[in-house]
Amino acid sequence: MKFHIKTYGCQMNERDSEAVSMLMLRHGFTKASSEASADIVIVNTCSVRGKAEDKALGKLGLLAAGKRDSPGRIVGAIGCVVQQLKGDIRRKVPGLDFAVGTHRIGTLPEIIALVMDGKGPIIDTGEDRVHESNLTLHPEGGISAFVNILYGCNRRCTYCIVPAVRGHEWSRPATNVIDEIRQLVSAGVREVTLLGQSVMSYGRANQVWPESHRSPCGFNEPLPRLLEAVDAVDGIKRLRFTSGHPSGCTEELARAMSELPSVCEHLHLPLQSGSDRILEMMRRGYISNDYRKAIECLRKRVPDIALTTDIIVGFPSETEEDFDMTVRFMDEIGFDNAFVFKYSPRPDTAAAGWHDNVPAKTKMHRNKVLLIEQDKRGLAINGRLIGQEMEVLVTGTSLRNSSRWTG
Ligand code: 5AD
Ligand code: SF4
Repeated sequence: MKFHIKTYGCQMNERDSEAVSMLMLRHGFTKASSEASADIVIVNTCSVRGKAEDKALGKLGLLAAGKRDSPGRIVGAIGCVVQQLKGDIRRKVPGLDFAVGTHRIGTLPEIIALVMDGKGPIIDTGEDRVHESNLTLHPEGGISAFVNILYGCNRRCTYCIVPAVRGHEWSRPATNVIDEIRQLVSAGVREVTLLGQSVMSYGRANQVWPESHRSPCGFNEPLPRLLEAVDAVDGIKRLRFTSGHPSGCTEELARAMSELPSVCEHLHLPLQSGSDRILEMMRRGYISNDYRKAIECLRKRVPDIALTTDIIVGFPSETEEDFDMTVRFMDEIGFDNAFVFKYSPRPDTAAAGWHDNVPAKTKMHRNKVLLIEQDKRGLAINGRLIGQEMEVLVTGTSLRNSSRWTG
């Protein structure tokens, strides 16, 4: 049986799809060369904004309807939308053969085997997480790899559905992470990105280091210690981690970023808004001055650090004045790049109960203004690199011209 996975959403979802794909191969399934030629189509869904959810459900609807012309084909959904909708997903997309939530994707091969046995449809949105060791496989031949270090999220930002669909925070033991990375690097990987919804919470909810561990650089915090240990893996060239939170931008982290050779001088640090009033309503756990101080702390040790961010425009009650504060604050920090999102009310979040009072047109306008400003800023920052010699990690040949490299 040949399978195909279509993925929506974040890097976490990309990584889940990759791990599930490897698990399927291990269970004797093979990869289809295209969606059309697949016997089993799996859609990994994202529910972070209404639009993402609609896209995934729309795709599933088309696939389920297409089953009339290809009897025997198996179509199912996994991931965040499944976890959120639970059994209701079958009402939204009749004809699904299986739906498996975020915590249970490690059982997918068994579930598909049951469906093939005529025991479908099967819905599994249980909250007991399947053991992590099921999901540590990676494809061969890669230069760059994502490695989960932290599942779930314990923050309660008022707009965010992630805690509802990804559950409580749980950090993987450091030794498991390091073993996975050692294997990757010995198989040729040179760049590793450590993943977590709020990666700087690594080791806050559960212990990750044995009491006996002594950090050679004298780090006490779990993430700097992990960066130090991964940096020591022979052959690793680039080490990244995402996404950050100002509360984790400590002196130790700054020192780790400046002293450990493989750690890239880049951080994705979502700001969300430059208005303190909105930040408090979002329950982000910082105001603009805390964010400013976090950046100052990093820049003292890593002056050339590249900073990228996420911004939400049109949060409930956001005024022109709040928006101006975001424009000015983004300028003050000088981000290298920014992802700008229009606020979208999500079920099971605190903000869902608040009046979504910023008109769609205003959201659109604010979104555009920020992107135009960011383009100018990005161009100016990149302009300073002209004429400089940089180190580039070559990742393959150019898609347009195979006699050239890309990196
Ligand atoms: N509406 C709009 N954007 C959102 N994000 C998260 N939840 C929402 C929402 N309800 C954005 C945040 C986050 C990014 C991954 O998605 O900016 O950092
Ligand atoms: Fe989408 Fe969030 Fe789930 Fe990632 S964790 S797939 S962004 S809902």
